[in-house]
Amino acid sequence: MQLDVFTLVPHAYAWLTEQRPVAAVLGTELDLRLFSYRDTTPLRSGQVDDEPYGGGAGMVLRVDVVAAALDAVYGTHARDGRRVVALTPQGRQLTQEVVEQLANEEHVTLLSARYEGFDERIVEHLCTDAISIGPYVLSNGDLPAMVLVDAIARRLPGALAEGSGELESFSAELGGGLEYPHYTRPADFEGWRVPDVLLSGNHANVERWRKEHVR
Ligand SMILES: C[S@@+](CC[C@H](N)C(=O)[O-])C[C@H]1O[C@@H](n2cnc3c(N)ncnc32)[C@H](O)[C@@H]1O
Repeated sequence: MQLDVFTLVPHAYAWLTEQRPVAAVLGTELDLRLFSYRDTTPLRSGQVDDEPYGGGAGMVLRVDVVAAALDAVYGTHARDGRRVVALTPQGRQLTQEVVEQLANEEHVTLLSARYEGFDERIVEHLCTDAISIGPYVLSNGDLPAMVLVDAIARRLPGALAEGSGELESFSAELGGGLEYPHYTRPADFEGWRVPDVLLSGNHANVERWRKEHVR
């Protein structure tokens, strides 16, 4: 899939692209492109935001700046049919179901804002979706965008070791529940013992125990 991120700090994504799962699918299943609003802003001196009408503190990301950025990449019509997602606390809350939907799209665009956020016309007229990563406020949309890039990347073919992506928390295979507990060596640490069934080598019993411990 092609996943485009519009941001003021494209360089901040370097770390993410060096880590699995994103690194594992970059250039094959995932075409991740990073664009800066500043590169295409029609305003002077790289300006991208402005004071809010009606007064008040903070700066608001301008609609003409975001429209120019999208037009520069897609042309005026090529946005049609593409999922364009504003990251904003006012959006619908991100869930694994939303991640699965987006991971099945061929083209997704993420828009990050900062300070007071987006001019509402961006969300209303330039976006198809508005997503919040949770009921709290972060300083900008880049951590939320990275959360989405990571969550989407791990659902792409080849991102994870065979089988490890299916039986995860919130997956359909676990009925949307939380994954059973995991243990590794040592089997006994200061009297905290790993459940005997997991040491038994009896796969059927292990499977039963795991099913019973989906939370
Ligand atoms: C400081 S926040 C703006 C908060 C906004 N004034 C409000 O009260 O809802 C700046 C930007 O960070 C991003 N952001 C902050 N928290 C977020 C969240 N929980 N989910 C998604 N994006 C978020 C959005 O892009 C937002 O426009």
